[in-house]
Amino acid sequence: MRKIMVLGAGDLGRRVFHELAHATGERHVRLVGRNAEVTLRAANLARFCGLQRGRTPRVDHALTDLTDVARTAEQIAAFRPDVLFLAASYQSWWQISALPEAAFQRLYAANYGPWLPMHLVPTLKAMEAVRMADSEAVVVNASYPDAVHPVLFAVGLSPHLGIGNVANNVPGIRTAAAAQLGRHVADVDVRLVAHHYVSHRLSRRGDSGPARMGLAVLCEGRDVTATVDVPDLLRRLPGEYRRTGGLPGQAMTAASALSVLEPLIDGRDAEVHAPGPGGLVGGYPVAIESGTFRTLLPDGMTEEEAVAINLSGQRHDGISEIRPDGTVVFESASMGVLTEELGYACDVLPLAEAEDRAAEIAERYARYRARVTEQVGVAG
Ligand SMILES: NC(=O)c1ccc[n+]([C@@H]2O[C@H](COP(=O)([O-])OP(=O)(O)OC[C@H]3O[C@@H](n4cnc5c(N)ncnc54)[C@H](OP(=O)(O)O)[C@@H]3O)[C@@H](O)[C@H]2O)c1
Repeated sequence: MRKIMVLGAGDLGRRVFHELAHATGERHVRLVGRNAEVTLRAANLARFCGLQRGRTPRVDHALTDLTDVARTAEQIAAFRPDVLFLAASYQSWWQISALPEAAFQRLYAANYGPWLPMHLVPTLKAMEAVRMADSEAVVVNASYPDAVHPVLFAVGLSPHLGIGNVANNVPGIRTAAAAQLGRHVADVDVRLVAHHYVSHRLSRRGDSGPARMGLAVLCEGRDVTATVDVPDLLRRLPGEYRRTGGLPGQAMTAASALSVLEPLIDGRDAEVHAPGPGGLVGGYPVAIESGTFRTLLPDGMTEEEAVAINLSGQRHDGISEIRPDGTVVFESASMGVLTEELGYACDVLPLAEAEDRAAEIAERYARYRARVTEQVGVAG
C-alpha cells in the first residue's frame, strides 16, 4: 500500500488529491489542510465520488498549520508518506487577478519574482517539518519551485522535484509540432528548458520574449528540431492551441503534477518536465527512473548551458541572483512595481528575513486590495 500525503488544501492541492484518490492502484491518500471544514469536505467529496464510480478509495484527512512546524512534523511522522505533495502558499498567483482590472495590470507588470516570500516561507516550514519527522518521502512541490528550490537547496532543504510551469506548455507544443510535421502526436516528444517566466509568457504571447529558452523536437526519438519552424509553432500556443486559463485552467497544472506524482507512486519510469529538480533553478526535461530522477537535456546541451538559459528567465521574472547561501537579490524594475503599488521594498532578502517579509507583503497587500476595491466602488 503506497501512502501519499497532499499538504495544502487549496485549489491545486484539492484537485490533485481528488485525482490521486480515484486511481485504481493500492493507495492510501491523505489530505492535510489548515481549515477543518474545507479539508473534511474535500476528503469526503473524493471518497463519495470514488464510490459513485464503483471504487472504494482509501482517503482521509488531517489538519495542521504550517507555521507550527512540530505539529506538521507529527502529522508526517504519524502517516509516513512515500510521496509528499506540497501545495501551500500564502498568496497564490491568481489572487491578484481578482483585483479590479487596472490594479491587476499594474501588479502583473512586476512578474512573479518579488512575491517569492509568499511561496518560499510555507515551503520552508513544510521542509523543516519533513526534516524534523526524519521522513524519507519523495517531496514534490508546486509552489514556485523554479526559485524556491534553489533558495532552499542552499540550506539543504530543497524538495526533490517541482511540478507545473515548464511542463504546462509541453502538451500544446507537442500538439503544434505534430501538426506541423504531419505526424500523430504520440510520435512526437519535446525537451523544453524554460524558467517560470518563459512558461508563463509562452502560453500568453507565444514567444520567450527577452529571455532564453531551449527546445528540441523529437519524432520517434530522433531530433527533428532543424526541420521545424519553432517560432511559428510557439505562436500557435496563444492562437489555435489556446486553453482555458485562470483557476479552471489549473486542471492543466494538476495534470502536470500527476505526470510527476503517478510514476513516483507506482515506481514506474517516465520522461516528464519539472521545475527545480534537485534544487536547480528553472525548468527542465526530467527522466524518472526507479524512483530517482535526472535531467534529460536536449542532445548536445550541457547542464551549465541549461542553467544559464534558466538564469536568463529568472532575471526577467524579477530575481537578479540567488546567492550560494540562499540570499535573494531582486531586480529593481520588478521590485519597483511593488514599491509603487504596495509601498513594499526589498532589494536583498536573506533567508532568515523571509518570514517577516512574507508577513509584511500580506499586510500591505490586504490594505492595497481594500483601497483599490473601494476606489472602484466609489467610481462606480
Ligand atoms: N507550478 C505551477 O505550474 C503552478 C500552477 C498553479 C499554482 N501553483 C502554485 O501552487 C500553490 C498553490 O496554489 P493554489 O492555486 O492551490 O493556491 P490556494 O488555492 O490559495 O491554496 C493555497 C493553500 O495554502 C494553504 N496555506 C496557507 N498558509 C498555510 C499554513 N500556514 N498552513 C497550512 N496551509 C496553509 C491555504 O490554506 P487556507 O485555505 O486555510 O488559507 C490554501 O489552502 C501556489 O504557490 C501557486 O502559485 C503552481
